[in-house]
Amino acid sequence: MRSEMWSRRSFLRMCGALGAAGYALKPGGLEGVEAASQSIAGRSPEDVAGDEFYWREVQLAFKLDRTLINLNNGFTAPCPRVVLESEFRYMEMINMLPVHYQGMVAKNVETIRLRMAAEFGCEPEELALTRGASESLQIAQNGIDLKAGDEVITTEQDYPRMLTTWDQRLRREGIKVTRLQFPVPTTGDDLFRRFERAISPRTKVFHFCHVTNLTAQMFPVQRLSRLARSKGIVTIVDGAHALGQFPFKLRDLECDAYGVSLHKWLLAPIGNGCLYVRREMIPKFWPLQAAPEQQDGDIRKFESIGTHPWGIRAALGEALAFHQALGGERKAARLRYLTLRWANALKKNPRVKVLSNLGEPPETWGVCAVNIEGMDVRDLAKFLMDKYRIIAVPLVGGAPPNQVFDYQALRVSPNVYTTLEEIDTFIMAMEDALKNGVPTSLASADDGPVAGVPWASIR
Ligand SMILES: Cc1ncc(COP(=O)(O)O)c(C=O)c1O
Repeated sequence: MRSEMWSRRSFLRMCGALGAAGYALKPGGLEGVEAASQSIAGRSPEDVAGDEFYWREVQLAFKLDRTLINLNNGFTAPCPRVVLESEFRYMEMINMLPVHYQGMVAKNVETIRLRMAAEFGCEPEELALTRGASESLQIAQNGIDLKAGDEVITTEQDYPRMLTTWDQRLRREGIKVTRLQFPVPTTGDDLFRRFERAISPRTKVFHFCHVTNLTAQMFPVQRLSRLARSKGIVTIVDGAHALGQFPFKLRDLECDAYGVSLHKWLLAPIGNGCLYVRREMIPKFWPLQAAPEQQDGDIRKFESIGTHPWGIRAALGEALAFHQALGGERKAARLRYLTLRWANALKKNPRVKVLSNLGEPPETWGVCAVNIEGMDVRDLAKFLMDKYRIIAVPLVGGAPPNQVFDYQALRVSPNVYTTLEEIDTFIMAMEDALKNGVPTSLASADDGPVAGVPWASIR
């Protein structure tokens, strides 16, 4: 095992900071993380990324099942204890007298819109709070007027549900959907040129991921948005995996609509998402559920879904507080540190192919894809689970109309609570697979580790 020891100096430094801040060392709370962050203030995120004493405090903020090693945080992640507790608290409170407290919480969560907008760099009036990226993106996808023959350009490696949404408009209204293919990893320039070359007089929408759910391939969002705007094309960007994983400001992307899952990298309770819409574009998108005309230019028109599960929404405030206590830059640096630890160790073997960009400037943080030459990733994932209790998701391309791509990928996504020991167990397990092979007895290529659940759905 490669676990580093925490230094005595950092322990003393930490105790000093906790004492100075007047905190008793109470593991598991937001105070602990805040005090730990104070204790390392002034140090660079890259330096702190390898400070196990700091990250130990963060690990304690979660209630986990450490008998399993979860390297599928890309799907959705456990919330820190404080977040889960606040969700329960709000639910209990609302349940006392829903007719009274729902309205109150609904008004109060306007503060969350303000805080989210300030943290992620947009106007509060440009940010709708939703239940996830699927909802956010479908609002934009189904909400933009398109006529038969109008063209949407997207890619084969966009999220299946989003491709299905365009396919449904194709079947219903006769729009044209063009899916571009690209190799992985590739460059922003290459992706830009592919979109530029594909534009036709009928192109009305660009739809692409900020980073894909498969190999975390990053797209040049700002350049593509500028290109699109210069030609009157609307840009819809899938940011399900981006916001909260690595730092950027929404307004800098210059896209028209941007959909996010906040139950992924922001560690919010499941059922939280957001939709950014550039202010001038708000009237151009119809909401999924009808809203009165007076609301045409109001971002809240995208939020009217009837009776809301407000407890889930209110707990987003605590998830944001946790994210801020950690610091977006520090979190990204740690995720990158964990990823580079395993990727650099394994890529020395010529049979190992890393499918994500590992170079500088950083484009890979907590999601990285890998495969082993000559080994089916479904067999590999089953081996990791059966022998080492490691959860990592195998991705293989489907037949149309699904995502179609010609590579296999084991997607590995740790989180801020992941220990070095867990990463090193993964390295050891992969070395075992490389040296000794893995059983190739897949009962059915369609069956995932959970009986009856297909692999392709475990994202
Ligand atoms: C790239 C991408 N887009 C959209 C979604 C849908 O997100 P949600 O499940 O929050 O609706 C996901 C979920 O995994 C995703 O990975």
